[in-house]
Amino acid sequence: MHREAVEVIVVDGHSSEGVPAATAAPRCELRPPRVLFADGSPTQRLLAEGLLSDRYRLQTVGDGRAALDAIRADPPDVIVADSELPALTGLELLEAVKAEAGLRRIPFILVTTGQLHAIQSLEAGADDYLPRPVGPVDLRARVAAAVRSRRMVAELERQHAEMIRIHEDSRQLELELHQAQKLEAVGRLAAGIAHEINTPIQFIGDNTRFLQDAFQGLVAVLAAQREALAALPVPAELAEKLARAAEEADLVYTVEQVPRTIERTLEGTRRVAVIVRAMKEFAHPDQREMVATDLNRALLATVEVARNEYKYVAEVETVLDELPLVTCYPGDLNQVFLNLLVNAAHAIDDVVKGTGAKGRIRIATARRGDAVEIAIADTGAGIPEAIREKIFEPFFTTKEVGRGTGQGLAIARSVVEKHRGTIAFETEVGRGTTFRIRIPIGGAPAPAEAA
Ligand SMILES: Nc1ncnc2c1ncn2[C@@H]1O[C@H](COP(=O)(O)OP(=O)(O)O)[C@@H](O)[C@H]1O
Ligand SMILES: [Mg+2]
Repeated sequence: MHREAVEVIVVDGHSSEGVPAATAAPRCELRPPRVLFADGSPTQRLLAEGLLSDRYRLQTVGDGRAALDAIRADPPDVIVADSELPALTGLELLEAVKAEAGLRRIPFILVTTGQLHAIQSLEAGADDYLPRPVGPVDLRARVAAAVRSRRMVAELERQHAEMIRIHEDSRQLELELHQAQKLEAVGRLAAGIAHEINTPIQFIGDNTRFLQDAFQGLVAVLAAQREALAALPVPAELAEKLARAAEEADLVYTVEQVPRTIERTLEGTRRVAVIVRAMKEFAHPDQREMVATDLNRALLATVEVARNEYKYVAEVETVLDELPLVTCYPGDLNQVFLNLLVNAAHAIDDVVKGTGAKGRIRIATARRGDAVEIAIADTGAGIPEAIREKIFEPFFTTKEVGRGTGQGLAIARSVVEKHRGTIAFETEVGRGTTFRIRIPIGGAPAPAEAA
């Protein structure tokens, strides 16, 4: 807390003790460092005042207890304490200060008697010592050196914090880049596969429909032939052969079942076609520009491609309001919907696992002024209070390896922010969670403009 006071001491672009000023705020108020001087002798305190108060904000105290109180109340930049203080000796004061994390870095100069005592004080953690009787030049020199080292430590701490921040930023950036590359690769792959499946599935459909028509024709011919045969005198041998063949072919059953089989085949092909279309719609490869998008369709495509993730644990219900087209990156938003859907399925799985019961995922859309809202609600386990703050952090996960990587919500947040939208959630442990996303209809400004 007090560290900042040291950092803002700047004189004409340079700090007074030689730390480069580039890192400090330019020319803030000029605040001399604070020195606490603790000595039982009034004479010594007067001496210190004479020697130090012109350059430092000096506080003098007469006993160790008062010194500790003063240090705790408002930590100084340097402490000078006599070893033979009343109430709490200098060594005890030293130990108390070095035991407190918030105070430990304040340079502590102990005034000692004799070499042995000096060594002992350094071993106890003193940053420096002054032999008694304290010489005026020594006192000023040691205090100045202590202030300098204090500043350097403060500067190093600041740089360290800055490095941690940069590291975290780059981690986030790396995550986004990695994710973007992965998405692009997956998108390309999915679109390619969809394209490949599309052609064969189309001719399977066409051929099956041909068989359907042809079979109907054959059945009609068969019926007419049977009628004609019945009207003709047919040799008994031939009639018997015909009856046997019909029986072997299970003719009655076949005529009844083939149309149903064909209908089921056509149904299957239609499903594959729907999935392929959803895959194409979901993947959106190479979509680097914002485009006007029907988010309801995008959600339906996502529900389709994610079916395998939830079908054993949940029913999905969609309540889609009429929406205007939204200018957005559809591929990115699909990824967000998918992440939320998978999270919902996992949360429900945690509740229903082993019971055979199913939960419910409800996807609702609605227009809200200049934005559209997409709500994805689950009847899962809810999010415990203790982790609510953390769930959007990159790599935060409560799931075992293989089930979660902790990237889903971090990506969701960064995609939503890219759209200048919002993402929020309501949750109740034991009842479920609803994530709400709002995306502005008109589209966010391009990143360059936004910056
Ligand atoms: N719908 C939800 N219900 C309960 N907990 C959730 C839900 N969505 C996310 N969470 C919690 O947030 C954490 C982070 O989610 P996410 O970023 O998607 O990573 P992951 O799913 O890989 O763990 C999850 O591990 C889980 O604890
Ligand atoms: Mg997830």
